[in-house]
Amino acid sequence: MELLENREKPIGVFDSGVGGLTVMREIMRQLPDEKIVYFGDTARVPYGSKSRETVVRYSEQIVRFLQTQQVKAIVVACNTASAYALEALEEKTELPIIDVVKPGAKTAVETTKNGRVGVIGTEGTVGSGIYSSYIHQIDPKVQVTGKACPLFVPLVEEGLWEDPVTDEIASRYLAELIDIGIDTLVLGCTHYPLIRKTVGKIMGEGVTLVNPAYETAVELKELLSQQGLLSPGAPALGENRYRFYVSDAAEKFKRFANSIIKYGILSAKTIPIEEY
Ligand code: DGL
Repeated sequence: MELLENREKPIGVFDSGVGGLTVMREIMRQLPDEKIVYFGDTARVPYGSKSRETVVRYSEQIVRFLQTQQVKAIVVACNTASAYALEALEEKTELPIIDVVKPGAKTAVETTKNGRVGVIGTEGTVGSGIYSSYIHQIDPKVQVTGKACPLFVPLVEEGLWEDPVTDEIASRYLAELIDIGIDTLVLGCTHYPLIRKTVGKIMGEGVTLVNPAYETAVELKELLSQQGLLSPGAPALGENRYRFYVSDAAEKFKRFANSIIKYGILSAKTIPIEEY
């Protein structure tokens, strides 16, 4: 068991912007006693169309910033950063670190019955082939088809979660996955759970949608427990249970965050992430 003061430290969660809040929401639900520091890289979003080198550099800066916040563990709540930067981050920090892709891949294998899995995500995540590689490590027989859906992130950020425009674009993106006859679809981008209804309607009842956030929180709990790092109890009243940092446009972030997380987020602080 770790020292009490280590167990009381917050968990650091980061994403390229607001998408990781869907993961944070799940961690808050499953681990209500934990404190969380969230960083959204709102100045440099999107990561999905950037090169590996750039995403690695950004992610390393964010981890350095989170370390200044005395976090006890790190959650990479961004599929693109998980796909490109996880190994580099693991080499650079001693902290326990968890990504969203491995948990999503595991759930997909457990869910599929016909062995045909679809993965939707950014160009970076789909192009990296990371989901197929993790899925095939568990079960080489599963057929994995990836489809990049680059317009989904701006549609989500514009708040068009249920809108005819989103229906139309989603129908085009998803047509080939329907033709292939997948029975499981991984929402391989942390923005996508917000348009889950639209995607579900188009894919139909025979297709199960996998949101990696759920399994990520389960695995985070296991990891903290194994390392003796689970919080000893709820933070005291008045303690800053959840803190939010961004690299730009804090007010806009705060409004968006309040529509995702029902917590009444009062402030988000802008920090100069390039200096880390
Ligand atoms: N949240 C990112 C992810 O899960 C997508 C947004 C972006 O392109 O930065 O991949």
